[in-house]
Amino acid sequence: MVSKKEILRLGLGCSRMSNANSDRRESIATIHAAMDAGITHINTADFYTSGHNEILIGEALKGYNRDKAFLSVKFGALVAPNGKMYGLDVRPQHIKNYLTYSLKRLGVDYIDLYQPARIDLDIPVEETIGAISELVDAGYVKQIGMTQVEADTLRKAHSVHPISLVEYQYSLFNRNIENDILPTARDLGINVVAFGTLAHGLLGGNLTKDKVDHTTSHIPLFSKENIDKNLSLVEALRQIAEEKQMTVAQLAVAWVLAKGEDILPLIGARKVSQLLESMKALDVHLNGSDVKRIEKAIQVNEIAGGSFPRMQFKNGMVVQQ
Ligand SMILES: NC(=O)c1ccc[n+]([C@@H]2O[C@H](COP(=O)([O-])OP(=O)(O)OC[C@H]3O[C@@H](n4cnc5c(N)ncnc54)[C@H](OP(=O)(O)O)[C@@H]3O)[C@@H](O)[C@H]2O)c1
Repeated sequence: MVSKKEILRLGLGCSRMSNANSDRRESIATIHAAMDAGITHINTADFYTSGHNEILIGEALKGYNRDKAFLSVKFGALVAPNGKMYGLDVRPQHIKNYLTYSLKRLGVDYIDLYQPARIDLDIPVEETIGAISELVDAGYVKQIGMTQVEADTLRKAHSVHPISLVEYQYSLFNRNIENDILPTARDLGINVVAFGTLAHGLLGGNLTKDKVDHTTSHIPLFSKENIDKNLSLVEALRQIAEEKQMTVAQLAVAWVLAKGEDILPLIGARKVSQLLESMKALDVHLNGSDVKRIEKAIQVNEIAGGSFPRMQFKNGMVVQQ
């Protein structure tokens, strides 16, 4: 169930706004353009460049009605000075502390959706969710979300406190959630926030082999062995996009939108022009045969390499990359 606050089908994913080569003014202009266009779901995490992203969003919110924004914040990832995630802290007694810092950096007195970045196999999820529900009772958090969890974990969490939204990677290059996670979320009545809808840039339509940068080069889809194969799949998609007088990015977002009204894609834009381009996907209607044709252009068994690493944590440490 989505929040009482109206949220548009699309949300704005802000993580890349904190990359070293991002333009602060353009990032803030992008947040403003999103809110002016009715996008209220602003997606961040306290560990996106160690608080930088929240401070940026806090700055953008000045002069805006904070109550119109739907701020989604992940917490718990432990990040080394080199930016790499090395562990996870979702111990119940620590959550209130993380929340306090987020509220300060964002300059707000409540967060709309608070979610553990991952779960710890050593801590019953019920305990983590139970601790967040105390923050709901105290009025600091409105709703609880989860991300990248297994279906049974989602069920357990939902039995402790209603989970409003669950965030998963979902794109033409990663359809894993269709197997059991999406049916489970639907069974529980939980809407799915889809991140990585442009496969972290692969579906942007303007990527070439030499433009793969250090922020994505660790993702197997982008490796030297796999990138040519995957770019050739994007070319097959481009043909359909051109016929429909759309860009590849618009078609990729429109495909996610067409997969169910309960799926809410995040737009990972840090430029106003990118945001406005992707938002045009809202005006596109793909019928069943369009969807089939698109899925034939990028067939799951033809994708080379996996996408985002699925890390697991136990007792605070990484146990599986
Ligand atoms: N829950 C989780 O575990 C998790 C994990 C990762 C991300 N997220 C959330 O999801 C959001 C989006 O993720 P993401 O940024 O990795 O993936 P994404 O949306 O799939 O891709 C972003 C990439 O697409 C490019 N792009 C954006 N708009 C474009 C357009 N209209 N045309 C062409 N290219 C375009 C960007 O270019 P530039 O290089 O110019 O920026 C960037 O390279 C994040 O901001 C974050 O909020 C959540």
